[in-house]
Amino acid sequence: MKIIGTGSVLPKKIVTNEMLSQFLDTSDEWITTRTGVKSRHVISDEKLEDMAIDAAQKALADAGISEADLDYIICSNVVNEYITPQLSCIIQGGIGASCPCIDINCACAGFIFALDLAESHYKAGKVKNVLIVCAEEPSRMPDWADRRTCVLFGDGAGAAVLGPGDNIKSIKLSSSSATDRLWQMRRLQPTPFVTKEEEDVPLQMKGQEVFKFAVKAAEKDVRRTLEEADCTPDDVDHYLLHQANIRIIDSIRHSMEQPKEKFPTNIEDHGNSSSSSCPILLDECRKAGRFQSGDLISMSAFGAGFVSGAVLFEW
Ligand code: COA
Repeated sequence: MKIIGTGSVLPKKIVTNEMLSQFLDTSDEWITTRTGVKSRHVISDEKLEDMAIDAAQKALADAGISEADLDYIICSNVVNEYITPQLSCIIQGGIGASCPCIDINCACAGFIFALDLAESHYKAGKVKNVLIVCAEEPSRMPDWADRRTCVLFGDGAGAAVLGPGDNIKSIKLSSSSATDRLWQMRRLQPTPFVTKEEEDVPLQMKGQEVFKFAVKAAEKDVRRTLEEADCTPDDVDHYLLHQANIRIIDSIRHSMEQPKEKFPTNIEDHGNSSSSSCPILLDECRKAGRFQSGDLISMSAFGAGFVSGAVLFEW
């Protein structure tokens, strides 16, 4: 398979570090030095599903195919207002497609897991065109009085259309259960029979442990894909890493011994947009004319679970 189109959409509201420091005990200096984030786009009056549909339509237009040509839709999402139906069905209706669709929740690594799922369908000969949409509103997960978490996130939707091709060189995934490092719970509707305690807990994170996991997992995943494709880190033209923290990106870059120019970033004005982060970055780089045909791209993401994955592909 091959990526033949991309699209992305961001909410219009921009929240700067200075705005945060008006109601939180924080500063632009702290957030910038520790995370690299200067501002983020957060949902105000937008609906996530509308942003997802818009991103999907942009990716279809870029690919030059119509919704009727789609054989499968995969939506990656952690939270949205609907518990059911699945977001992919809402996107399907919004773009007027009629193919089967599925939602996955693989946290911030969702785009890589979606590519892996799509690849299985290509290998089974079941699909010609697949739409992946990552739509996330992580700004709705933390407690906005908790300076350790709420400053990190931004919302957005990123989409990619896949077509037939031989451009995926390797995909590697991994999961290792660590459910007390990054988690959130919500209370379900009461029933006359439930006797257990349930509570609403906003996003909880052991930042330093997540940081260490991220650096280790990303480097390992990227190296495994390179090994499988018989490539070296120098062969890669662009490293598109999950935009979670500039210091995580820099650590991976240092251990891969690669120049800064190979690591485009948008964390400065997007923050961490969960699984949307990779396809949004991909779309922005494409639109900026950063990729040449034949360029080798390494993409890697990690998130709650823990889960992580990397993909090596040719543009
Ligand atoms: N503003 C000011 N001070 C803050 C702050 C903020 N927004 N957030 C935390 N602090 C304080 C802490 O309370 C702590 O103060 P103390 O020493 O008085 O207790 C101090 O800064 C250091 O906190 P610490 O958590 O050790 O900082 P850190 O260097 O590890 O950076 C993260 C925190 C969250 C930025 C960093 O750990 C990180 O990015 N982890 C990975 C998170 C991630 O990527 N999550 C998503 C995965 S998909």
